[in-house]
Amino acid sequence: MMPVRVLAVASEVYPIVKTGGLADVAGALPMALKAHGVEMRTLMPGYPDVMRHLAGAGEVRRWPDYFGGPGRLLAGAHDGLDLFVLDVPHLYARPGNPYVTAEGLDWPDNGVRFAALSRVAADIGHGLVPAFVPDVVHAHDWQAGLAPAYLHYDNAPRPGTVMTIHNMAYQGKFAPELAGAIGLPRDAAFDVHGLEFFGGISFLKAGLQLADRITTVSPTYAREIQSDEGGMGLGGLLRERANVLSGILNGIDVSVWNPRTDPHIAYRFGADELSFRSANKAALQHRLGLDPRPHAFLLGVISRLSWQKGLDLLLEAMPVILGDGMQLALLGSGDADLQDRYQAAARAHPGRIAAVIGYDEALAHLIQAGSDALLVPSRFEPCGLTQLCALRYGAVPIVSRVGGLADTVDDAGEAGSAATGFTFGPVTPENLSAALERASFAFHDKPAWRALQLAGLATDVSWRNRAGEYAALYRDLMVSRRG
Ligand code: ADP
Ligand code: GLC
Repeated sequence: MMPVRVLAVASEVYPIVKTGGLADVAGALPMALKAHGVEMRTLMPGYPDVMRHLAGAGEVRRWPDYFGGPGRLLAGAHDGLDLFVLDVPHLYARPGNPYVTAEGLDWPDNGVRFAALSRVAADIGHGLVPAFVPDVVHAHDWQAGLAPAYLHYDNAPRPGTVMTIHNMAYQGKFAPELAGAIGLPRDAAFDVHGLEFFGGISFLKAGLQLADRITTVSPTYAREIQSDEGGMGLGGLLRERANVLSGILNGIDVSVWNPRTDPHIAYRFGADELSFRSANKAALQHRLGLDPRPHAFLLGVISRLSWQKGLDLLLEAMPVILGDGMQLALLGSGDADLQDRYQAAARAHPGRIAAVIGYDEALAHLIQAGSDALLVPSRFEPCGLTQLCALRYGAVPIVSRVGGLADTVDDAGEAGSAATGFTFGPVTPENLSAALERASFAFHDKPAWRALQLAGLATDVSWRNRAGEYAALYRDLMVSRRG
């Protein structure tokens, strides 16, 4: 096996900094790639949490003025992950969420903050760190989108580049004047084949235009984003570049998500002990103040509360939940309006609806282990990870038939003995309600329900094979660039 060195560039990496699934992917993929002969190092910004976790990291490079203040590049490791950290205090030494202020607004200098990250990625690509000269630079989402752009415009021998889209809705859009300030050719800001995007510049567009290969996180999403609607302004570009675009499904870290060893759940269980889930259900009901009813159909939701996730539609489906004797355990944070509406629903229906607003990793595990079904009614979903965890924990997924949800859940009405859950589409409150009713009916047919759970548990949701697809892509890229 030809060894490959890859520099991954990501703005969040589990277990150090996480706001969503990108961190899970960036944290798990490097480990899984080792088995495929890929040596991956990940570059991330030196936020306070990162500096705390990497106290022992060594300095590789120091700059008196890096984008307006002193900066350093560090190399270190945490929890089996090999990392480069860009420590530039005037850009990253800020508490809380990596992208927004305490008031929830984008930091006004986000353009410079993530240009700086991409600039150093490109320099590592050119050999800044002699001990690690990558064959491929792999950029994740808009925050890393300029890495392929810098490598392109530097006009020097360079590694291959891959741009991965985790979410088309976040495009990193800025004023065209920024280009000159961050050391990119000013002309590129006005070039449709460069950074230009509807009169401004977009870091995601730059990456999609200038990377050698593009991937996204499921085959269905790879098709959807080539449409005008799913492409969110970039569908035309992606249609033009369809020959270098592919969808590779995400996996989950099956050592973090393992119901046999999970430290966060009340009762650990394996496939032959599904009945023990009832202890987790009771613990979840107790913890959230839900009525202690073992036979109530308990729905779980673990999600960012944003338009993407379709949770406003679930509020409209509330009559079905209440009328049919179901319970709902929701854990999420995000849009203030949705937070308020779920809290109001919980107040209005104590014992039936519980809403925990916030981010709580331990509770997320208990919801997976204790709910009967896990609900993901997204309007669009590049891949989605919670339904993969649910499959592994015996919580039957009920999902909309979009993106990676369509690729990972097989509907009970269509898939016969291979069925793992319930899917619905188009994404409307009516279709969601109908799916909930179908699932509730199946829940009361114990053998049928157990068959769904067992098929879910037998599904491979790990990174093992999927990492192999990335490894093949890196090798293919190296060969084609040499050829
Ligand atoms: P996205 O990246 O769009 O938010 P994913 O399903 O890919 O969606 O990944 C979400 C990740 O974040 C999962 O690991 C999920 O368990 C976790 N998560 C989401 N919301 C919360 C929360 N409120 N508390 C704990 N974990 C959460
Ligand atoms: C994004 C998407 C989600 C995906 C995750 C990791 O945040 O919204 O669908 O699973 O990235 O790829």
